[in-house]
Amino acid sequence: MEVLRVTGGRRLVGEVSLAGAKNSVLKLMAATLLAPGTSTITNVPDILDVEIMAELMRRLGCDVHHDRDGGLVRIDVPEQPDHRADYDLVRRMRASICVLGPLVTRVRAADVALPGGDNIGSRGLDMHVDGLRRMGADVTSEHGYLLAQASDRLQGAHTWLDFPSVGATETILMAAVLAQGETVIDNAAREPEIVDICQMLLAMGACIEGVGTSTLTIEGVERLDPVEHATVPDRIVAGTWAVAAAMTQGDVFIRGGHADHLAMPLEKLVTAGASIDEEPGGFRVRMDGRPQAVDIVTLPYPGFPTDLQPQFIAMNAIAEGAALVTENLFEARFRFVQELARLGADVRTDGHHALVRGRARLSAAPVEATDIRAGAGLVLAGLVAEGETTVYGVSHIDRGYAGFIPKLQGLGAGIVRMDQPD
Ligand code: UD1
Repeated sequence: MEVLRVTGGRRLVGEVSLAGAKNSVLKLMAATLLAPGTSTITNVPDILDVEIMAELMRRLGCDVHHDRDGGLVRIDVPEQPDHRADYDLVRRMRASICVLGPLVTRVRAADVALPGGDNIGSRGLDMHVDGLRRMGADVTSEHGYLLAQASDRLQGAHTWLDFPSVGATETILMAAVLAQGETVIDNAAREPEIVDICQMLLAMGACIEGVGTSTLTIEGVERLDPVEHATVPDRIVAGTWAVAAAMTQGDVFIRGGHADHLAMPLEKLVTAGASIDEEPGGFRVRMDGRPQAVDIVTLPYPGFPTDLQPQFIAMNAIAEGAALVTENLFEARFRFVQELARLGADVRTDGHHALVRGRARLSAAPVEATDIRAGAGLVLAGLVAEGETTVYGVSHIDRGYAGFIPKLQGLGAGIVRMDQPD
């Protein structure tokens, strides 16, 4: 087991480059199941979740070549893939559920272990199931597995999502591209990762209208072709670097960053006192002086992303003034503030709300990351705390941030990875 040792007090200065988005690449890999033959995905981040997904694809009968250094995954999908996603993989990575839609539409069967709750709260699957049932799939749950079957080709259907769920939009979209007739997804998610998968599906021969809007109309086709597709850059990692630059009063150029995918968080950073400049190939974040506290309300895209909420709480913890942070997506995401409090942060939570009163200084302590973004938030807090902070639970950070530690070192941060002390 390893830990991170973070020495606070250094400004981050320099340039950092982004890889593809975790929340896109896993779904792109699942989407290759829709076409027999060899698909290639590039701009793949070197993170643990990609390894887990590669293993899942192998168990489904695919031949997977993963070039970690080259940022490339090549997947050879057989004519008849297997259809079981076992609990040992799903429990390690909840996103494994993304094979459900492609399998049920292509193989007419999917047995996918139920992921259960995770560290950011219980996350339902009712909208995924409802969408597939509307298309004619028979979906039941037994012995901890979701069992989906279709006696015939799925039929296009009209679905209204109660909430623009990213996962449910992807499941229904991937099922619909090979269904018979027209599917309409109303109140669909509009995240850049949804646009990314739509673009890949279009290149495979799918018919989709309304890409990037909240109504997706899909006309099913009989067969899709393999494809080569580059993963969209990771806007959450970009946002994490942006907050890190602002918190440490630094100056960082984020190469590959799309400022337009981060309109709301960057606007908040400007309110906090940062300057953001779009430059060829990315954007730069600069900050002089202590940040001002900024209120945050998480919402589906283009609202403020829940995946940047912990990082902004960390910034507010050292800001001038007080901020109210409202979390509307994942109820348990505030668990991490107990760890932040160990560094001296003044945060009070009540249901969906957290009141953060900024402190002039945080003081280093051992803390534990409980999920990917909480881990990022704690590292950022460690970068500005006085003394040496030890961050436990590093595997969470490795799941989402490719080369995080060397990149932080490259910007001048005092951070090392080491064996966990006894
Ligand atoms: C994805 C991202 C995650 C991000 C989230 C919101 C991946 C691997 N993960 O998660 O990092 O924080 O989008 O941007 O891409 N819900 C239901 N029933 C359903 C589906 C969802 O109640 O059938 C609820 C969930 O419990 C949650 C909310 O809807 O409260 C949002 O979930 P969703 O948008 O589906 O997020 P994920 O796809 O799980």
